[in-house]
Amino acid sequence: MTVVAIDGPSGSGKSTVAKALANQLGWAYLDTGAMYRAAAIWIDQAGALDQPDRMAALIEQMPLEISLDPVDQRFYLDGVDITDAIRTSATSRVVSKVATNIPSRHVLVAKQQQLAAANAASGIVVEGRDITTVVAPDAAVRILLTASPEARLRRRALEQHGQADSAAIAATTDEVIRRDRDDSTVAQFMDAPPGVTLLDTTDLSIEEAVAAALALVEQA
Ligand code: DC
Repeated sequence: MTVVAIDGPSGSGKSTVAKALANQLGWAYLDTGAMYRAAAIWIDQAGALDQPDRMAALIEQMPLEISLDPVDQRFYLDGVDITDAIRTSATSRVVSKVATNIPSRHVLVAKQQQLAAANAASGIVVEGRDITTVVAPDAAVRILLTASPEARLRRRALEQHGQADSAAIAATTDEVIRRDRDDSTVAQFMDAPPGVTLLDTTDLSIEEAVAAALALVEQA
């Protein structure tokens, strides 16, 4: 199976590196965090964000289509393009309600495993928080990307506010730190378990991080 599994906390560079890696290899790419985000939108539309017992059944029925293109991955919910909606801060604020709901995780993990298996023959890079450990523990290459908390906050602030001054970092802190804390109660993504290569991107440029990931794929 040619699956590359990449985990890491917010701001570790995992999306950027995973996309660039898939693009260079000519492989498919799956952003599993976006699937949690799509599920949050779907559950919100059903008015069930505060009804944890309904979430998994709703996600089972979720009509989600995903293009696995690393250059322009798009998400369609019931035929509607929600690619931009999944990135809004409104979605970011509520997504942990789904990500910390264990029955919902089981449904989403099964969907992710189906997508990985269906694309393994031609190659796929799957990125998230529990990919190396839960979704694809048998992947040919498993990488945990990390970066110092300061670097992660700086990157997210730049991404969301276009700058990394102290006000932008303060505005980003709650989202990054709180979400990692909430999510780490259900997914282990801070330490590399045996067989998973730790790649610290704190002092690496994007190009250097991608080159390091590519070297790991070529070694495998
Ligand atoms: O990486 P992201 O911010 O788009 O992830 C959205 C949310 O889903 C975030 O709360 C982390 C969570 N997540 C998860 O629990 N497991 C995954 N495989 C991917 C994301």
